[in-house]
Amino acid sequence: MGAQWGDEGKAKIVDMLAADADVIIRWQGGCNAGHTVVSNGKTYKFHLVPSGILYKNKICIIGAGTVIYPVALETEINALIKEGISLKNLKIHPLASVTMPYHIEIDSISEDGITNETKIGTTKKGIGPTYADKFGRCGIKVQDLYDEEFLSKRLDSILPVKNVVLKEVYKTKTYTKEELTDYCKRAAKILKPYVCNDWQELYADIQKSGKRILFEGAQGVMLDIDWGTYPFVTSSSPIAGGAATGTGFGVQQINEVIGISKAYITRVGEGPFVTELDNLAGNRIRTIGQEFGTTTGRPRRCGWFDAVVARYAVQVSGLTSMAITKLDVFDAFDQIQLCTSYKDTRNGKIYNYYPTNVNTHQYLEPVYETFSGWNSNITAVKKFKDLPKDAQLYIKRIEELIGIPVSYVSVGPDREQTIIMKKCRI
Ligand code: GDP
Ligand code: IMO
Ligand code: MG
Repeated sequence: MGAQWGDEGKAKIVDMLAADADVIIRWQGGCNAGHTVVSNGKTYKFHLVPSGILYKNKICIIGAGTVIYPVALETEINALIKEGISLKNLKIHPLASVTMPYHIEIDSISEDGITNETKIGTTKKGIGPTYADKFGRCGIKVQDLYDEEFLSKRLDSILPVKNVVLKEVYKTKTYTKEELTDYCKRAAKILKPYVCNDWQELYADIQKSGKRILFEGAQGVMLDIDWGTYPFVTSSSPIAGGAATGTGFGVQQINEVIGISKAYITRVGEGPFVTELDNLAGNRIRTIGQEFGTTTGRPRRCGWFDAVVARYAVQVSGLTSMAITKLDVFDAFDQIQLCTSYKDTRNGKIYNYYPTNVNTHQYLEPVYETFSGWNSNITAVKKFKDLPKDAQLYIKRIEELIGIPVSYVSVGPDREQTIIMKKCRI
């Protein structure tokens, strides 16, 4: 799971860990996620399909806690088929929620400021509105797409209210029942080969035969609806607790919780970001780290590693270890900074814990420790002891500051470019 604001390199680590798993299951989010896996020099992009799909015999499940925009999933699936990836092991949970066309429109209109709602900088994939309807009990679930009578009744109850909101609040087009029924028919057709109606049998089999499950998160702790920098968050639960509610596997199934952080930190979209660098160093991180969104292409905001955020992630997700990615991005840096705490510029107060009232963040500045760079190429290093001493010191200091072990250090995008410090049990 992501321990920052997303894009930590989760897919790379999940893909690597998936080698030891039998089942990979995504628990939340939708096609707002952009996950990149590089395997044997080839690059694959995922949004909703679990990264484990690159392996031939692993069951990959899109969990009940996700939201599915069928049009986007179709595009993703077609692209994977074109790459020769088999989707025979892909399963969609029938309790996942369906993004409707009006969700996409509402997301866009809210973001464009027409309704004066707070601009979040969303991916405009309809995520917030789909989850809002799910929790408002006026959403459509995947299983509803295959029950004509029930779907018809659902649309009859949802549509009159939705149309008033679309017309009066969002000043946009309304929908006829026929239009939405057609949309649902198309969605049903797209999803049908993958919908796992016998998921209870499958789960029972997974448990009985002791299959190893890898839960795959999207986004990150700081974008969590409850624990993130609200309202500048996504609308799901990327924290580890979400893995249980979003998949239907019990909490006792989870042995290890691996957080993923970059050796620095990035954020896409609006919201507070204490270690953000609006200078040359920030630009260098963006250029060298190729920090541009996988889903939207937006330049990511870049900053130094924030141990306050990392400790917060450890706390609210019960992380048992951290994977640190993209250490190689610092290969040509003379100096690296590491934020250990925040200082309130109004009164000098030091914060070792993350202040959850984002309104105060305008007054906070990072307290940094400075590290020497290593000025060498670490992308082929396989063992921690072979890393330059300064790179080792940097990782060791992160470990000390966050209070949990660093289990993996990633030194390049490829599966193979990973230093295993402590192999995690799946
Ligand atoms: P995710 O959303 O957390 O899966 O991360 P993204 O795929 O959005 O962004 C991470 C980017 O960094 C991808 O382009 C990865 O291929 C790349 N990446 C992952 N690990 C490393 C690494 O250790 N070094 C470098 N240079 N790139 C990496
Ligand atoms: P992965 O899984 C980074 C951000 C958006 C915006 C906020 C809300 O690749 O790490 P949303 O469309 O979810 O309503 O947008 O969340 N966001 C992400 N940022 N990585 C992601 O996914 C993100 N998914 C959403 O930029 O700030
Ligand atoms: Mg991403």
